[in-house]
Amino acid sequence: MSTVTCVAPVNIAVVKYWGKRDETLILPVNDSISATLDTEQQCAKTTVMASPNFKEDCIWLNGQKEDIRNPRLQNCLAEFRKRAGNISHIGQWKIHICSENNFPTAAGLASSAAGYACLVAALAKLYNIEGDISSIARVGSGSACRSVLGGFVKWCMGSLSDGTDSIIKQIVPATHWPEMRVLILVVDKGKKKVPSSIGMKRTMETSDLIKHRIKHVVPDRVNKMEQAIIKKDFKTFAEHTMKDSNQMHAVCLDSYPPVIYMNEISYALIDLVHLYNEAVNDTKVAYTFDAGPNATLYLLEENVPEFVGVLDYFFPPLENTLVEYRKGLPIEAVTP
Ligand code: PMV
Repeated sequence: MSTVTCVAPVNIAVVKYWGKRDETLILPVNDSISATLDTEQQCAKTTVMASPNFKEDCIWLNGQKEDIRNPRLQNCLAEFRKRAGNISHIGQWKIHICSENNFPTAAGLASSAAGYACLVAALAKLYNIEGDISSIARVGSGSACRSVLGGFVKWCMGSLSDGTDSIIKQIVPATHWPEMRVLILVVDKGKKKVPSSIGMKRTMETSDLIKHRIKHVVPDRVNKMEQAIIKKDFKTFAEHTMKDSNQMHAVCLDSYPPVIYMNEISYALIDLVHLYNEAVNDTKVAYTFDAGPNATLYLLEENVPEFVGVLDYFFPPLENTLVEYRKGLPIEAVTP
């Protein structure tokens, strides 16, 4: 028997990936940028075991047995077995996978990104496969490819139909902007109503606004965001982060039937951030929302105590409102 355990972090996009040009290879319609977050605060932990005695492949997620026939999981496994085939007898054995997240799963908190990055890192170690594994993570869950690297990461959409130029690159390592902090505000731990794959498909099929976004907004925004990160220009970084989150949710609302991820607490948080920034006459806090109502705030360390005080005042931790804060920071990625 052979066993490997890995831990992998989530990443939270500041320029969102929303929409695919290829559903199987998971190729996006725009470039995206994210930061990879501190693993201790929010991570997936995955153990993979291979044994000649196992009768079938199995997977447990947070202690519950899940369906191993999930097509994306099968795509990842098939790719590894193909690569391992000639070099390792383990490639012939059945495997058992146990994965758990230390944060709510499928609640729009990038659980699938951490989960697939972790699975792929563990399988690469198990099968002794070297080289780029981000493309295998990508076929599990698009955004997972960005969790393979640390710091600020860009996923370049590419233009080739085989996906070979849809690659990730590190813009800067985490050490480049050590003052950067992230607060995760868990508004609702429940599973999202519309999985991101279905939301994206509906957007691509029915939204007019998405065409404007991918052609006229994201290319320029990605360049400005990259420069803002390199120059540590928080104001520009924050403005584009908020505008991009708002636009992702606008194209969701422009889909038909509309895809609605945020709730009234999310909107109240948006108001609060803008009111705070106006009150201090600066842009000190930025929000962003993935496919769910939970907020991620980007801010500099020096502003954390004051803003946490503001949050505590306006959103005292009550049931069904903000239940917890998680303080993270950009980090280096996957740890075997
Ligand atoms: O990787 P997926 O299929 O779960 O897509 C997630 C997309 C967003 O989280 C909403 C945005 C992003 O870029 O991570």
